[in-house]
Amino acid sequence: MAQQLVNNAVKYTEKNPAIVGGGALATCLATLFLVKKAEMKRNSHDYDSGMAGMNILNNTDHTLKADEFKTSIKDYESMFGGARSDIGAITNEESVEGRKERYGAMIDHFYNLVTDFYEWGWGQSFHFGPRFEDETFDESIKRAEYYLCSRLGMQQYVFDGKGGKRPMKALDVGCGVGGPMRNMAVFSKCQIEGITINEYQVKIGNKYNKEHGLQDFCLLKQGDFQNVPKVWPKEYFDVAYEIEATCHSPNRVDTFSGIAAVLKKGGLFAGYEWIMRDEYDPKNTDHVRIKEGIEVGNALPTLVNYRHVIECMEKSGFEVLDHFDANEGCDAINEIPWYETLNGKMSLSGFRMTHLGRWCTHVMVWTLETLMIAPAGSTDVSALLNATAIDLCDGGNLKIFTPSYFFIGKKK
Ligand SMILES: C[S@@+](CC[C@H](N)C(=O)[O-])C[C@H]1O[C@@H](n2cnc3c(N)ncnc32)[C@H](O)[C@@H]1O
Repeated sequence: MAQQLVNNAVKYTEKNPAIVGGGALATCLATLFLVKKAEMKRNSHDYDSGMAGMNILNNTDHTLKADEFKTSIKDYESMFGGARSDIGAITNEESVEGRKERYGAMIDHFYNLVTDFYEWGWGQSFHFGPRFEDETFDESIKRAEYYLCSRLGMQQYVFDGKGGKRPMKALDVGCGVGGPMRNMAVFSKCQIEGITINEYQVKIGNKYNKEHGLQDFCLLKQGDFQNVPKVWPKEYFDVAYEIEATCHSPNRVDTFSGIAAVLKKGGLFAGYEWIMRDEYDPKNTDHVRIKEGIEVGNALPTLVNYRHVIECMEKSGFEVLDHFDANEGCDAINEIPWYETLNGKMSLSGFRMTHLGRWCTHVMVWTLETLMIAPAGSTDVSALLNATAIDLCDGGNLKIFTPSYFFIGKKK
């Protein structure tokens, strides 16, 4: 009897090698999961290791419970009804207004879902940047951050000219998990406090600050940047910056006026904005398709032209000193365009960001979800991010979109 069972099993294996191979893979992953489970806590270098991809949406620090992810995705998608299937559907006023009304939930859902993917694939700074030939990806990201430090004059102390000094304070508007904040504090020694609406980001960001011994320089607070004075007293900060964050704002005059209120008189505010360039033609359906693809894949009420950002700065009590697309000329022979990293130029260190790398992540996440290791809905998030990566590349290639429109203003 036992011999017969073994013989049958061997025959089955010969006929169905794929199923058996899949089963073996599943068994290996399940075993690894059990072995790794005890270690599934986030730490700052966790995503450096290949196996840590298993922590995506599946770690003890996450603020969502396993059964909450699917509901979160459904609610998020409901705010972008018709996206990708019906060009123009999410550009109509009703759709945009709906997202503006529910911006808090939209953004919180989005960052609960994507924070782990961003960190796994991109790093702790969730932004793009101009890149010079021979510059590594990480160097280019830090250069974009240090550029802000230099334009804002960030340093350790503010001197009163009479021999006195006090620590300089900077505000990071929409701070993510604090990647830029930590880099900029190490570079400038300025004290930086950041705001993000997402509790998970605050939790892990402050944990990373502590792990790096930067807790006296960096602090994340949970709050809504539509009302910054609710979190800090008036005239508390010397300077402020935002990196690819206020594109989420449902009303930039409210955002910028609040920032002006917590800045001292003469304080500088600079940032990098996601905007549609003048090359964008709202009558061109291909342009609209790309713009909407970027919006649905990045929790944006709607993308605007740079002039709108500058107007809002002026209406909010800032004198605008300078503004330009930091990616202008990114096709030059000595530059690597910001979207090239997503496009798929192969490099070992940047593999996870490429087409192939994202596909591998997708397969891994699908496997983990199928094995019920990752929560239900994880694969949908991976698919959403893969689709929008293509839209970002298309927007960059056509020069209709940039994520790095630099601006700087001085509080009047
Ligand atoms: C693309 S991420 C950029 C994060 C960070 N600046 C970086 O470069 O790593 C956008 C950030 O803006 C935050 N955000 C968006 N809308 C917000 C709001 N109304 N209040 C507070 N934070 C907000 C998100 O939670 C997220 O942390």
